[in-house]
Amino acid sequence: MNKLIIANWKCNPQTLKEAQRFFAAAEENVKSVENVKNIEVVICAPFSYIQNLKSNVQNLIVGAQDCFWEQKGPYTGEVSPPMLKSVGCEYVILGHSERRQYFNETDEIINKKIKMALASRLKPILCVGEKENEREETKQVIENQIKECLKGIDKNQVPQIIFVYEPVWAISTTANSKDCAVNEAFSSGLMIKKMLINLCDKQTADRVKIIYGGSVDSSDAVSYIKEAKMDGVLVGAASLNANEFGKIIKSVAEISN
Ligand code: PGA
Repeated sequence: MNKLIIANWKCNPQTLKEAQRFFAAAEENVKSVENVKNIEVVICAPFSYIQNLKSNVQNLIVGAQDCFWEQKGPYTGEVSPPMLKSVGCEYVILGHSERRQYFNETDEIINKKIKMALASRLKPILCVGEKENEREETKQVIENQIKECLKGIDKNQVPQIIFVYEPVWAISTTANSKDCAVNEAFSSGLMIKKMLINLCDKQTADRVKIIYGGSVDSSDAVSYIKEAKMDGVLVGAASLNANEFGKIIKSVAEISN
């Protein structure tokens, strides 16, 4: 399976010019690697930059960071999956902990968004993970999130979804954030896989990509993939450092074959 490197730019950068600069640098880095066929680099940019970036794309894939759960209608301010699809978006991050925290997104809302994204042929990147005060019950928290977010979704569609294990306590901007040990990421990835086997079946679960997110940088991206057996990484802060993101791309490409 191709390894996924997904950049989550969040509410950054502040100008289109800067966005183009980061994008061009990532393009160059992907172009320079030999095993380019074995990696997929997705840039999840703010809505306002997507169309422009997409028109300059060669080696990158463009994604969004959220979407609405209806196709159209009287919902001031919302951006729907068909709109994203029509400007060339292929992926959409859903259920990120920042959306859950600051915008009160519940698993029920995320479930509706996943369904509409799938109906519009966008690939959802579903983030799950426990908060610091939930670390004793990680399995329960993740299981609940996955069950609720997948409610009513046909198992044939599940392999379209990318699952991200992203412990909230490991996100770089969380107060007192800590690195997630590789063995902890490994066991959580395994947990997600088992949950998918139970919810769907082994054949379906084997086709699903499970990736890791939370303070990934060039010093540990490869460990999460090689040792924690993840199918890729979701990168926040380090994706806005062109040099650092370039190193991540190159190091992951080197081990992907
Ligand atoms: P981080 O962000 O890499 O800065 O921890 C990851 C994310 O929140 O998706």
